[in-house]
Amino acid sequence: MANKQVTVATIKEMKQKGEPITMITAYDVAMSRNVNEAGVDMILVGDSLGNVILGYNSTVPVTMDEMIHHTKAVMRGNSTALVVGDMPFMSYQASIVDAMYNAARFLKETGCTAVKLEGGSEVVPLVERLTQAGIPVCAHIGLTPQSVNQVQGKDIAAAQKMIDDAKALEAAGAFACVLECVPAALAAKVTAELKTMATIGIGAGNGCDGQVLVCNDLLGVSTGFCPKFVKKYANLHDTTVEAVKEYIADVKARTFPAPEHTFKIDDAVLEKLY
Ligand code: KIV
Repeated sequence: MANKQVTVATIKEMKQKGEPITMITAYDVAMSRNVNEAGVDMILVGDSLGNVILGYNSTVPVTMDEMIHHTKAVMRGNSTALVVGDMPFMSYQASIVDAMYNAARFLKETGCTAVKLEGGSEVVPLVERLTQAGIPVCAHIGLTPQSVNQVQGKDIAAAQKMIDDAKALEAAGAFACVLECVPAALAAKVTAELKTMATIGIGAGNGCDGQVLVCNDLLGVSTGFCPKFVKKYANLHDTTVEAVKEYIADVKARTFPAPEHTFKIDDAVLEKLY
């Protein structure tokens, strides 16, 4: 368990020392407490909230208010992890003023440390403004769920753009950058090119400075499509269904609640009732 508050400086130091950085998503207080107890370095309140928790078909409908609501819950369960709030679709694309306002909402209303936003060179001016204003930024390049859906950077131009984007984001002041669905050798090259910005991979091989997974994927909460890059460390779907089936059977058989789950009243009191 991380016993010291993880800060932006800690993440930079971990990159310098080559110490792998762990990040996981969380959306509520219980998961936040559990992943803190496990000792994770960073929690991302991802806009994957839309698919994972709210049942939308994509991340597009997720609003700032929904992100703030869930980030507050995560912060109530957080002890030492560095919490990153994910800027949802159209909370930062329309103007720098909107973006600054929405990023500030994360820090002021939830108490989280940093914000994440998707994009390469096009968001560099915004990353500069945010970091100058004291808002730590985690960038996100490669497959960006708010845009397209394929492994990124496979041809020379796209691969070179990824390296150039990463360097520009680092120069703009981002302290970390998620690399999503990037060929492993390219992600390792991007990572080696960067001096201060830690790369956090998801589907980007093990040459990144750290890794991130969506908590529900890692825990096997749902059945259905699971990306190739996910390793399931548990099968909470089956555990949940089995547990609820047992509960239903107990209730139907009147074996739950048992005496140990039941409150008592004195017979003398009971007898006086009419
Ligand atoms: O929203 C999210 O959970 C993310 C991760 C996939 C990195 O952006």
